[in-house]
Amino acid sequence: MCGIVGYVGRREAAALVLEALKRLEYRGYDSAGLAVNSGGRLLVEKTAGKISALETRLDGRLPKGHVALAHTRWATHGVPNEINAHPHTDCGGTIAVVHNGIIENWAPLRAALVKRGHKFRSETDTEVLAHLIEEAYGPAVPLETAVAWALKRVEGTYGISVLSTREPEKIVAARHGSPLLVGLGDGEYFIASDASAVLQHTRSVVYLDDDEIAVLSPDGYRVTDLETGRIEKPVSRVDWDLSSVEKGGFRHFMLKEIMEQPESIRNALRGRLLEDEGNAKLGGLNLTDEELLSFNRVVLTACGTSWHSALIGEYMLEELARIPTEVEYASEFRYRNPIVDEHTLVIGISQSGETADTLSALREAKRRGARTIGIVNVVGSTIAREVDGGIYIHAGPEIGVASTKAFSCQVVALGLLTLHLGRLRSLSVLQGREVVRALNRLPEQALDVLARASEVEKLVSVFEGTSNALYLGRGYNFPVALEGALKLKEISYIHAEGYPAAEMKHGPIALIDDSMPVVFIAPRDAVYQKIVSNIQEVKARRGRVIAVVTEGDDQIAGLADHLITIPETIDPFTPVLSVIPLQLLAYYIAVHRGKNVDQPRNLAKSVTVE
Ligand code: AGP
Ligand code: GLU
Repeated sequence: MCGIVGYVGRREAAALVLEALKRLEYRGYDSAGLAVNSGGRLLVEKTAGKISALETRLDGRLPKGHVALAHTRWATHGVPNEINAHPHTDCGGTIAVVHNGIIENWAPLRAALVKRGHKFRSETDTEVLAHLIEEAYGPAVPLETAVAWALKRVEGTYGISVLSTREPEKIVAARHGSPLLVGLGDGEYFIASDASAVLQHTRSVVYLDDDEIAVLSPDGYRVTDLETGRIEKPVSRVDWDLSSVEKGGFRHFMLKEIMEQPESIRNALRGRLLEDEGNAKLGGLNLTDEELLSFNRVVLTACGTSWHSALIGEYMLEELARIPTEVEYASEFRYRNPIVDEHTLVIGISQSGETADTLSALREAKRRGARTIGIVNVVGSTIAREVDGGIYIHAGPEIGVASTKAFSCQVVALGLLTLHLGRLRSLSVLQGREVVRALNRLPEQALDVLARASEVEKLVSVFEGTSNALYLGRGYNFPVALEGALKLKEISYIHAEGYPAAEMKHGPIALIDDSMPVVFIAPRDAVYQKIVSNIQEVKARRGRVIAVVTEGDDQIAGLADHLITIPETIDPFTPVLSVIPLQLLAYYIAVHRGKNVDQPRNLAKSVTVE
């Protein structure tokens, strides 16, 4: 989860890669650096802190040269400081490497290299790559061959790009587990972690797959395997605009993305609802109805916010499609010995489509014979390309590290999948039509909730001076309680816990006093009366209650200290609406506390390491 950009062509490279790198800063941003091949010398500049700190250091004096690499880091080995920032160089300072991922066997490699006389400068795992390449590189050995030799000796994950003064017009890149693509310009070529870095220059990209090497020069590019055998790769066209990764007048990407949800939900539904048949059309599943009927269980696997939407999917699939379903943390699933076979449908949910744990869990499922589906936002991402079929959620680029519109669109996509599977099984056409109508109403209903943003902002005062909060929900809104708590935690740094509301009696109720804000997600659904009792239990202990309720609610209105209302919808889709006030609440609190909402400390947008 860091950002890599490289350029080779006829223009001045330093300014280009620095500008492009800014579009990747959301991926990881604790330090940054660049290397330029300048008149046969390698000029490297790097700093702790954000890209702005690097620009301050450069102070407009950009190294001249037509080949450059740049990197924004999310540290895994070695504290975020200048010496550990990338690029890393070999002993002779003639090879520069930037890396995304983890070299798991870095310690024995480093020890062996030190024993052979190599001098290390940093604490990172990455630096071993520079010295390994140095060992293999020679007058009769081209850079790509030296890189391949080195990569065969490492274990772990990488997306790397390499420069050398010996071949000053060349960039060599390679990937295993961390995303990289080649941008095809007119007489110029780019390497980047994702398309947002090159969109200003080209829409034509080639996505690298694992164990592939790209060799770029002003005259062209080629892709090979680690044995340097040539591989023909398709050229893809990126169809979204740079403007969609700009803030568009909003103060933060997160607020923009919260406000975009009506449009994102509309896009997630576009062309997929069959009203008369009460069904959903999902073109990318690549599974026939017979195959879909052959599954006797579903496993949903994901991380973080995507794991929360998976919990909602579990409830939907069991209630409406009557198929046994379970949810697994991807990081757990991949290392335990799960019972998965050809009758299991394993669904990976991932906004980025690059989360290492989710990718590995899906690979493990495939190894065990399961069919796999990806519910993904980023088109062309690794998960999207490796699963058997999938559903793109079409939420549009999500830049804010705290996921918002992706969550609501994941729930919508799970609703579409549930509808399709349900109609193959026990869901009647009339029931299906009710689901279709409810889905169709969501964009407008989300707009209604967003119109109440100012009411939510007033609740910031309830959290003044607090360092803990409890979020409680039942049924479909228990996962929303988890999601609301995660939003608050990750951007305001207030400790917040989500819990099933009834479970609160079994311990957490000890936390309740008049200083503890308790947020209830309590729409009018099948478990409404039960949650009313839970609110009374909290009020009896002087808890401060904020409740998200359905418009017209008159029971909780008399109980809660603060109300936020949402329109009525069917139970499975209440999360799409009830999550919005919680996203806004976390946002306003974090802004009030002066936090970096779009790039919270310690986090990164795409966790491409374990
Ligand atoms: C959510 O706000 C966090 N940024 C994080 O939990 C995220 O959901 C998780 O890392 C999974 O990412 P993915 O959806 O891209 O796989
Ligand atoms: N593991 C490398 C480091 O800690 C790369 C981290 C990243 O992906 O940014 O420097």
